[in-house]
Amino acid sequence: MTARFLRSHISPAAALSRTSDVGVRRAACNAAPRAFSTSNRRDKTAIVTGASRGIGAAISRRLASDGYNLVLNDIPVQSSALDGIASEITSSNPGRKAVPFVGDVSMVGDVERLVQASVDEFGSLETMVANAGIAQVKHSLDLTKEDWQRMFDVNVMGVFNCYQQAAKQMIKQGSGGKLLGAASIVAFKPFPCLNNYSASKFAVRGLTQCMAMELAEYKITANAYAPGIVGTAMWDLIDEKLGERSGRPKGETIKKFSQELIALGRTSVPEDVAKLVSFLASDDSEYVTGQTMVVDGGIIMT
Ligand SMILES: NC(=O)c1ccc[n+]([C@@H]2O[C@H](COP(=O)([O-])OP(=O)(O)OC[C@H]3O[C@@H](n4cnc5c(N)ncnc54)[C@H](O)[C@@H]3O)[C@@H](O)[C@H]2O)c1
Repeated sequence: MTARFLRSHISPAAALSRTSDVGVRRAACNAAPRAFSTSNRRDKTAIVTGASRGIGAAISRRLASDGYNLVLNDIPVQSSALDGIASEITSSNPGRKAVPFVGDVSMVGDVERLVQASVDEFGSLETMVANAGIAQVKHSLDLTKEDWQRMFDVNVMGVFNCYQQAAKQMIKQGSGGKLLGAASIVAFKPFPCLNNYSASKFAVRGLTQCMAMELAEYKITANAYAPGIVGTAMWDLIDEKLGERSGRPKGETIKKFSQELIALGRTSVPEDVAKLVSFLASDDSEYVTGQTMVVDGGIIMT
């Protein structure tokens, strides 16, 4: 206690003069500020999962305009939509290329091949955006073991498979990398009737933090993004199913939640999320790791 008390009463100048590394400290203070990076993503490659629509498609368009080459993934039923996004991105970003890769992120073999596709096509992988996810609206009293299994297979194992396979490739390359995963505001506070979904997003926060700790030595960062209420197919489903429970017509639940919960007063669009992911995929976020960043117009305040 005494030592701590005394230390707190030493002036900063006196404290500095007592250290043996004053020169080092002064040099650090006087060093020229580090340059901010401009867009330095040229010739880097990113994988985006769940890229055929919604938030994944917006992230893909944004990363292509930031200068990334892309491998875009989705499940077989979405393959023609995926092809459409890939060719749209390639034709609207001269010099950039987006290639589709169909596979299921819950299957580690598919994810291994997805990462290999990036290496085969572009020679490397710098950024993994583990965006794919599913939602389910069901009261806790009705949830089954199969419901939990499916949710965790896609939302938790899917993200983990993407992080793990990408990290192995990034370690081989030896120049670091970025792992990004889709969490949600329900990773901070669940919504009723989204129990298994909310728990899966809590898990994404947790595994992202652990990856950040373990992979820092390889200069690999891991962060998650946490959207709020985004007008996509996923929220169409949530709106419809919550509406069935409350007797609200289609479209009324998302409107009510948006009006009552969002400080900025409008439902989010996928591009709101893509802007945050663009930052997290850029060199400007080099000192950010282990975070789950909320982009929700002010529902959850961290
Ligand atoms: N929409 C929102 O309000 C919201 C809010 C918070 C978090 N999120 C998260 O953002 C991510 C994208 O959400 P969205 O709203 O664009 O949803 P979406 O349903 O429109 O798109 C999700 C995509 O993931 C794909 N997908 C599903 N399972 C897959 C699998 N096993 N392998 C590969 N792809 C698979 C789907 O086919 C679909 O194209 C999800 O992880 C979601 O949980 C969305």
